Amino acid sequence: MIVFADKKTLYPIPQLSLRYPLPLFLLLLILLTGSCQQGDAGSGQSDPHSFADPEQAVVTHLDLNLRVDFEQKQLSGAAAWSIKPGNNADHIIFDTHGLTIDSVKIYPGAQPASYRLGSPQGVLGSPLRISITPATRAATIYYRTSPQAEALQWLPPEQTAGGKAPFLFTQSQAILARSWVPCQDSPGIRFTYTADVQTSPELMAVMSASNSTEKHPDGRYRFTMEQPIPSYLLALAVGDLEFRPLGPRSGVYAEPTVIAKAAFEFGDTEKMITATEALYGPYRWERYDILVLPPSFPFGGMENPRLTFATPTILAGDRSLVALVAHELAHSWSGNLATNKTWDDFWLNEGFTTYLEGRIMEAVYGADYALMLAQLGYQDALEEIEDLGENSPDTHLHLSLAGRNPDDGMNDIAYEKGRLFLTMLETYFGRERWDHFLRNYFDAYAFKPVDSEDFLNFLRAELIQGDAAVEKDLQINEWVYGPGLPENSPRPASPEFARVEKEIDSWRNGKPAAELNIRNWTTHHWLHFLRNLPGELSQRQLAELDQQFQLTQSQNSEILCAWLLKAIPNNYAPARPQLEAFLESVGRRKFLAPLYRALAGTEGGLEQARRIYRKARPGYHPVAYHTIDRILGVNAGS
Ligand code: BES
Ligand code: ZN
Repeated sequence: MIVFADKKTLYPIPQLSLRYPLPLFLLLLILLTGSCQQGDAGSGQSDPHSFADPEQAVVTHLDLNLRVDFEQKQLSGAAAWSIKPGNNADHIIFDTHGLTIDSVKIYPGAQPASYRLGSPQGVLGSPLRISITPATRAATIYYRTSPQAEALQWLPPEQTAGGKAPFLFTQSQAILARSWVPCQDSPGIRFTYTADVQTSPELMAVMSASNSTEKHPDGRYRFTMEQPIPSYLLALAVGDLEFRPLGPRSGVYAEPTVIAKAAFEFGDTEKMITATEALYGPYRWERYDILVLPPSFPFGGMENPRLTFATPTILAGDRSLVALVAHELAHSWSGNLATNKTWDDFWLNEGFTTYLEGRIMEAVYGADYALMLAQLGYQDALEEIEDLGENSPDTHLHLSLAGRNPDDGMNDIAYEKGRLFLTMLETYFGRERWDHFLRNYFDAYAFKPVDSEDFLNFLRAELIQGDAAVEKDLQINEWVYGPGLPENSPRPASPEFARVEKEIDSWRNGKPAAELNIRNWTTHHWLHFLRNLPGELSQRQLAELDQQFQLTQSQNSEILCAWLLKAIPNNYAPARPQLEAFLESVGRRKFLAPLYRALAGTEGGLEQARRIYRKARPGYHPVAYHTIDRILGVNAGS
């Protein structure tokens, strides 16, 4: 049950007022607002985070040929791009970042092309401008990556689970693909690809494409991705990997010492795929596999098509953190099919996905569970708004990220305000109409870019249908272009969490921890419990909770992190060794950032945080250490 802010905001399903013959009206609107696919001259809008000029020429297909060199920390080879030039095209522009370009050929004719690599422009990197003619059909770029490439993390064996073989993984979203492949690095431009990757025989290479399930004795792997994808979904990982099937079209890749645990943890994957298909139509990527990465992976998960990349910190042993799988799987519809046209509309990827994640979790694990997740997310939204300031433009769903690193605008707003907006729409229109609408939306925008206006126009065409009263009720402009949470926002309230709050009250009023009623509490009950403890706790109180519930020893990364966030500001020394061990072994930014921030906020804590960070930083991914550098005010400019 979603409890609303205000009775006024509970609306009945509106009467359809058909002032226009509906099919005609819809057709007209769809024609008028239909998204401009890649290469459409006159699409007008451009992506502030890419140098590509789609009106000159766009790519349509990539044949990638790479050699993986762990010694040099370098990928080298060739990107052979099929291209579609505009009528008067005389050049094509690729994004690059830190790449060394050895030569360029254009086709037909395999002629050496004249090209120019522009000077680097901060996070955008350098434009690579290649001269072409309207008759050009392909361009092959011979290149090498830099050892500092931001998309690549080269791990020595010590940083892997097995400790014996090195590991490499890429992280292309948002604008890092250009640091390992010269590409038109804009989410509005899609292409199919093949790849030929050469590594050493003891390692396996996997990509966001068709994958082998066995090691090849010659270390050479060939990949095909038949569905067109944007560059941020290009992905590669190389390591000592093993495969285990989970279901008819799903499986898991992990290091041999992790594979059994991973196969158990992800045992519900096929159920999730089936549930999502029942809601939103067929899964269009054939297989859905999960790759478990070493702990330095800076994210929880990354929705690389056909092969979700996941942090090992969700291997809790009891499947309690698999909402992350539901989330990355949901991106197979929201994001990977219907893709945000630029990063300004990141919420169309993440807000939709967070909403879908909730629906999948409800379908597989029940409404009580999903409501707990929704309430935790709602709390995250409120906290984010408080941190950013309730009038901050960064609390708008539609962002203006031009001139900034897109990473800077990516916070809980897109995820949780986005989810609340869609939940409001669901409640307003009723599940039946809303679910039907969403399914049509994914069909209409399958393999296409979409921006906020496209979505709103589709919503108007399909559900609002010119009804001014409905339009007013929904407060769409406030949601998408305004700050904070509009007053018709849902306020998820879980009865399970009400139970937890009762126990917190009893404990605060003197009931011993040993006597609290924690029967059947799940990970999410504990998270709510920990988050809602008083800010100030005495050493005696902390020790009582710790001894009773073994919190410092928790093997659940989310519970441990929530506990440490209480322990740190209250200077609870017994948790200190665990805190240091966690910061030194885990690279997931979502944990690192609040922990370092909390530590730096205590008396004398900044020095301690910097001391731990000095040891830990070499093990972190660039995405993570850039954030922590800023929090701790170190390594500025690096
Ligand atoms: N696509 C995101 C990760 C991402 C976002 C990478 C922005 C680079 C830039 C992924 O789907 C995601 O949202 N991951 C979350 C997990 C999720 C359960 C909220 C994460 O990593 O925490
Ligand atoms: Zn996501």
